[in-house]
Amino acid sequence: MKVDQSRFSTQAITRVLGASVALLFWVGVAAAQAPGAKPTAPTPAAKPAPQTSPGKAAAPAAGSPPVGTLLQVMRGILFHSSNLIFATQSEDPADPKMPLPASFGTFARVYTGWPVVENAAVTLAESADLLLKPGRLCSNGLPVPVDRADYRKFVQGLRVAGQAALKAAQSKNMDDMIEVSGTVAEACENCHSVYRDKPDLKSRCLP
Ligand code: HEC
Repeated sequence: MKVDQSRFSTQAITRVLGASVALLFWVGVAAAQAPGAKPTAPTPAAKPAPQTSPGKAAAPAAGSPPVGTLLQVMRGILFHSSNLIFATQSEDPADPKMPLPASFGTFARVYTGWPVVENAAVTLAESADLLLKPGRLCSNGLPVPVDRADYRKFVQGLRVAGQAALKAAQSKNMDDMIEVSGTVAEACENCHSVYRDKPDLKSRCLP
């Protein structure tokens, strides 16, 4: 399946993608930005690591508390990395003139070419652990359902999709990128259809 985000505008996404992937990113945005939908700061859950003997550097905490809500992790990490993967369906990363989506920001050209795509794939796979971090809250203040079997399965799906994207990026094959873009979009959608795409914001993160 071709996930087309070639122009990276809401209109283009809506026009080209029709239902599936457009929904993935834009449904719920209005709800999330509704008045009173301010993300709630998560409560630190993990205790700091015990102090080690003087002179020795303190060991890093086994599980540091989350900093952001699930919404912030989605918007800040998964959104950008997946859009970069989707871009490679129509833009050759080896082309020095490859147009960059505005969302990648001012420093986007520091690193270039296929390695950028590999890095986005790694980011997606690694972000699975962030989605399972204990103590994180959703934007409505409910805990992220990290103990639910289906949620964990969806997270695993994201990890596997990220790994597949890495392999495709290493192949530098645009057909493989089209294929794997579908895999990534599906991994996002599987979880969103259960935990995100709700009639109202307060039902998010509930089964
Ligand atoms: C395991 C579940 C899960 C997976 C996998 C997942 N998401 Fe999400 N996503 C959510 C939930 C739940 C929310 C709502 C979070 C909140 O409101 O705090 C969300 C919200 C979002 C939002 C913000 C929507 C808004 O209201 O502004 C974006 C963007 C997003 N996800 C992108 C992605 C992308 C891209 C992927 C795949 C690469 C992905 N997500 C994978 C569960 C998931």
